[in-house]
Parts: sequence; structure tokens; C-alpha cells
Amino acid sequence: MKEETPGRVRSGFLRTLGGEAVTPPPIWLMRQAGRYLPEYRQTRARAGSFLDLCFNPALACEVTLQPIRRFDFDAAILFSDILVAPMAMGQTLTFVDGEGPRLKPPVTAADLDGFRRRNALERLAPIMETVRRVRAALSADKALIGFAGAPWTVATYMLAGGPSDDPAALRGLFYKDEAFLAELIEILVATTIDYVVAQIDAGADAIQLFDTWAGGLPEPVLRAVSLEPMRKIAAAVKAARPGTPVLFFPRGVGAAAIHYAVLEECDAVSIDASTPWEWARMSLAPTAVVQGGFDPMLVVAGGERMEREARRLVRAFMGVPYIFNLGHGLTPDTPPEHVADLVAAIRNP
Ligand code: CP3
Repeated sequence: MKEETPGRVRSGFLRTLGGEAVTPPPIWLMRQAGRYLPEYRQTRARAGSFLDLCFNPALACEVTLQPIRRFDFDAAILFSDILVAPMAMGQTLTFVDGEGPRLKPPVTAADLDGFRRRNALERLAPIMETVRRVRAALSADKALIGFAGAPWTVATYMLAGGPSDDPAALRGLFYKDEAFLAELIEILVATTIDYVVAQIDAGADAIQLFDTWAGGLPEPVLRAVSLEPMRKIAAAVKAARPGTPVLFFPRGVGAAAIHYAVLEECDAVSIDASTPWEWARMSLAPTAVVQGGFDPMLVVAGGERMEREARRLVRAFMGVPYIFNLGHGLTPDTPPEHVADLVAAIRNP
């Protein structure tokens, strides 16, 4: 863990990652900045488009802070997207309203040399400026989470040219052209290391790696395209910037989450909403901090059931380090008042 700066209050989020069972647990929510907030929609309209917003440090800083001001979360997450990395590597990224991201042209072996030669960090400079601004504006008791997509998840978008109907089916490439897939993953590992180290240097206190599409991969494939690349990134981060916690979100992997939790380089595993809480406590908590698990649909529903389930989740991890979060991101139809009720239920049990 990072040395404590004298006079600086360490956030509950970082204390939890350091192994302390903080009560009530720290809370932040995936997609806490986003379309469910009217102030986000307003700033996004001012920016022009989602991508313009990601590359406008003043406005990206503003939307990063909006959920902190409104809900007093324990951590802010940098406002950006996992797909700015392949964009910086040379693919053309667009977001089509109602359809999601497009990355053109779909990657082939002929693109790899170009990716290797390009200095992706240059194009990502505005993102680092956002990190600097957010860290300067945040109080010391709030952590700032930097992030990147895990290589496999980013590769699925690069290969399919956008969201894939069945991302796990892309594993066919592992059998058909393993060398090409391995090279693409290796380039993504190297780019991601540079990118997240730059975020740490700009002020990020911790790094989360999102492997949204890790589910459905047989174990040898999972190890090659998800587990080992994420381990390499975390190991490089720890070698370059010792003490920076790295959180892994291997969504949909079920019991294979244990392989991530036991890694020395993995400080926390973020669980999805289908992971049994008792199993996570028994199997993952002994070697990693557990984060997440709450169903985002319960926050859409709100009310007594949401609050009861939130307290039950907190109780399930009582006595061990745990970070409250969702199993996946907040959806645009979430009433912001429900988020306020959720935070209150956790802080005043
Ligand atoms: O608040 C935060 O969580 C921080 C910002 C953040 C965004 N995307 C903003 C965003 C983070 C951490 C991400 C990560 C991300 N992006 C992931 C991994 C986590 C996950 O949700 O599984 C993935 C797979 C993406 C790729 C992506 N970005 C897709 C598929 C889409 C379209 C679908 C959708 O949710 O709209 C996006 C767009 C996106 N990223 C939005 C936001 C706020 C909506 C853009 C808008 O304002 O229209």
C-alpha cells in the first residue's frame, strides 16, 4: 500500500484495500456518472457528444465529480471509456445513439505493426489532464479510481468492430489463429500498462481492470486471454508504482473468480450479481478484498426490498474487508433518488 502522507486522511476505500474491515463499508457504483443523472445529461449536451465529453478535461472532471457531490460516494471513478485505448491505437471510434460503440475497421493481422508503432499515450493526454483536475478537486478522504478495459474485453470490440452478440464465441480465434490473438493481447497488455501507469502518475489512487466479457471461456482460454494478461498488467503496475491497488472485474466467470483472487497481484475481485455472496466470502475473501455483487436492477426498483437486500449484502461480508458496489453498471432508467436511498441504507443500517 501507498505510504500515508502526513496530514492526509486515508479514504475508507483505500483502507479497505489495505485489509481493514471498515464499517459501514465504503461505497461507489459502476457507471455512477452517467445518463441516469440529469446533470450528466446537461453536461454531455454541452460537450456535444459522449466522446467529446471524454476528451474535454474540464467537463469530464465535472461529470466525474457530479455523483460525489450528490451522493458523497467514497470513491470517484475517472470519466472516460475503455474504448479510448483502441482509438488511441489507431481504430476509428464512434458512439451511435441507441446502438453503442463502433470501432472501424475490425482488426486484422495487418494492423498489428501499426498498433505497435503508435504512441497511444499522446492521444490520451487529455484523459490524464482530467485525472489531474479531479484529484486536485477531490477531498483527501475520497479515492480516485483510474481504469482500463482488460485486454480480452477490449479485443472483443476491436475484432467485432463493436459490441458482439456472443463475445465468448470469439474464442474460436484462440483455436484457429492463436498467434494472432496472442499478439493482439500482448500489444493491449503493453498499451494498458503505459496507460494506467500514466493515470497513476496523474493522480489515480487505484486502478480497476474491467473484463466485462470474461464469461463463458473454457479454463485454458480464460487463463491465456483474461487471467494472465490481467496479472501481467497488475504486476507491471506494482513494479512501476509500488503500493497502488489493482481491482479485477472478471464478469461472468463464476467459480473461476477464485483464480483471480489468489493472484498476488490482485488486490480485489469485483463480483457480478449472480455470484453467491456466501461463496465469495468463503472462497475469495481469504485472499482478496471482495467488491460489488449488488443487482443494478434492484436500484431501478428501489424501495424496501432494495434497502433490505443492501443490508443483507453488507451483513454477508461483516468482519472482512468489503467494498459495496453493483454487479454491473447503473442503467440509465435508475431513479437518482433510489441511489440516495441505497447509500443511506448502507450508512445508517
Ligand atoms: O461512471 C463510470 O463508471 C465511469 C465511466 C465509464 C464509462 N464506461 C462511461 C460510459 C466506465 C468505467 C466505462 C467502462 C466501460 N465501457 C466498460 C466496462 C464496464 C461495463 O460496463 O461492462 C465497457 C464494456 C464499455 C464500453 C461501452 N461504453 C459500451 C458498450 C457503451 C454503450 C452502452 C452503454 O452503456 O451506453 C459505452 C458508452 C458509455 N460509457 C456511456 C458512459 C456514461 C454512455 C454514453 C452516453 O452518455 O451516451
